[in-house]
Amino acid sequence: MSTKLKKIFVCTNCGTTSPKWEGKCNGCDSWNTFQEETVVKATTQEQKKKVWQESSTKDKIKRPIALTQIVTGKTERLICPDAEFNRVLGGGIVPGSLILIGGQPGIGKSTLMLQLALQTPIKILYVSGEESEEQIKMRSDRIGSPSSECLIFTETNITKILTQGQQLMPDLMVIDSIQTLSSPHIDSAPGSVSQVRECAGELQRFAKETKIPTIVIGHITKEGSLAGPKLLEHIVDTVLQFEGDRNYSYRILRTIKNRFGSTDELGIYEMQSTGLREVSNPSELLLSQTDELLSGSTVSATIEGIRPMLIETQALVSTAVYGNPQRTATGFDLRRLSMLLAVLEKRCGFQFGQNDVFLNIAGGIKVDDPAIDLAIIAALISSLEDVGVNNNICFAGEIGLSGEIRAVNRVEQRIQEADRLGFEQIFISKYNTKGIDQKRYNIEIIQIGKVEELYTRLFE
Ligand code: TYD
Ligand code: MG
Repeated sequence: MSTKLKKIFVCTNCGTTSPKWEGKCNGCDSWNTFQEETVVKATTQEQKKKVWQESSTKDKIKRPIALTQIVTGKTERLICPDAEFNRVLGGGIVPGSLILIGGQPGIGKSTLMLQLALQTPIKILYVSGEESEEQIKMRSDRIGSPSSECLIFTETNITKILTQGQQLMPDLMVIDSIQTLSSPHIDSAPGSVSQVRECAGELQRFAKETKIPTIVIGHITKEGSLAGPKLLEHIVDTVLQFEGDRNYSYRILRTIKNRFGSTDELGIYEMQSTGLREVSNPSELLLSQTDELLSGSTVSATIEGIRPMLIETQALVSTAVYGNPQRTATGFDLRRLSMLLAVLEKRCGFQFGQNDVFLNIAGGIKVDDPAIDLAIIAALISSLEDVGVNNNICFAGEIGLSGEIRAVNRVEQRIQEADRLGFEQIFISKYNTKGIDQKRYNIEIIQIGKVEELYTRLFE
C-alpha cells in the first residue's frame, strides 16, 4: 500500500479545508487562520493499528435497531466531591462521555482537574503532556489531600495512552491537554488541526466503547493560533469553558454544550494559594464591604445562567483632558456602553461628550445579562453628578433605545436574592408585572418606566 502525502490548508478555528491558502475562512468568517498541513490520504487509514478498537469490533457487526427495543441501563452518574463541577455537568459525570474544558492558558484548568483527581476517591488516570511528574507532584502538594488511587502518566502519544487506558481501566481519565497529543499515524505537529481532530476522535471512540468518562483540557488563545474550540465542539459531548480575569481570583466554569443536561449552569470558584475553592454564595463576595457612600458605584441584581447574583458596578466619569474622550469597559460590552451613553445624552440631556467614561464590573466577572443596564445608568449618572447612591439599593432592568426601562426575565428570583441579602430597595421596570407581590418581601419594590424617573427618585 502506498503512502500518499497531500498538502492542504486547514482553518485552525473551525477545521474547514481548502486546496490553497485563503485569507478569510468560508466556514467561520475568521481571518488569517489557514495553515498548511500534510495529510495522509484515506487509503492508508486501514494501516492504523488500533489495538483496543480491533479487539472490541472483531466479532460484533452492528445492525440498526428499533428505538423501542433499546434498553437503557441505569446511567449512574459519577458524583464528584466538587459540587460546582457536578452542577455544570447537570448532576455528575455521565459514563462514557467526553468532556472538553476550554480556557486561556494560566486560568487554572490543570489545577481544577488535578484537584478533582485528588479529591475523588476513584481510580483516575491523569495524563499530562504538559508537565513533568515532579511538577505535578509539587502542584498536588500545594493542593493537598492526595488520593492514592490517582495515577499520573506523562505521555503524549495517543496510542500509548489508550493502551494504558485499556489495561488499567480507570473510572475516569483526564487528558492535559489535547494540543500536546499526537497520533503516530499523522504527519503533522501536535496541536495542528489534523492531530487535534484525530486524537479527539480516538478519545471519543475509546470513551464510548470502554464507558470510561474522559475529560480533555483544551487551550484557547485569542488569536486562534492553536486548533480552535469550534473544531472540538462537534466531536465531544460536553463543552465547559473556564473563564475569568487573571488579575482577579474569581473563575467561572460555564457550560457551552451539554448532551446530558442544560447549558444554563454555571460554577464559580475562587483561586487561592491552595487551589480552587468552590463559591456557593457568589453575591456576598462580589459586593464590596464598604459602608461609605461612594459616587459611581451601584449594585445590580443579575442572573448568570440560572443563578441570581448581586454584582457591584463602578463607573467613573471625568473630564477628558487629552483630546478624544476615552470609553473603557471591563467585564461589559463596550458597544453596549456607547449605546447607554447615547440614550442618556439624547433622551435625558446628560452631557458625556467631553468626558472620559470608565466602567468596571467588580471581581473581573463578565456579564451578559441585559438587566445590568439600569445599574450601569445609575452608576454613570451618579459619577457624573458626583452624588452617591445608597448601597441598600439595587437595580434590575434593561434600557431600550428610547430611554424606556424594559422588563427582564426571572425578576422574582432577582428580588428574592436581593431581599435575602438585606437590600432595602430594588428598582425594576414597571412592565415587569407578573407575579410580583410586594407583601411577600421585606425589600421595597420600586417600579419605574423611564430613565427620568430613576433620576428624580435617586438624585433629586
Ligand atoms: P494552571 O492550572 O496551570 O492553568 P492552566 O492549566 O489553565 O494553564 O494554573 C495556573 C495559575 O494558577 C498560576 O498562575 C498559579 C495559580 N495557582 C494558584 O493561584 N494557586 C494554586 O494552588 C495553584 C495550583 C495555582
Ligand atoms: Mg495547564
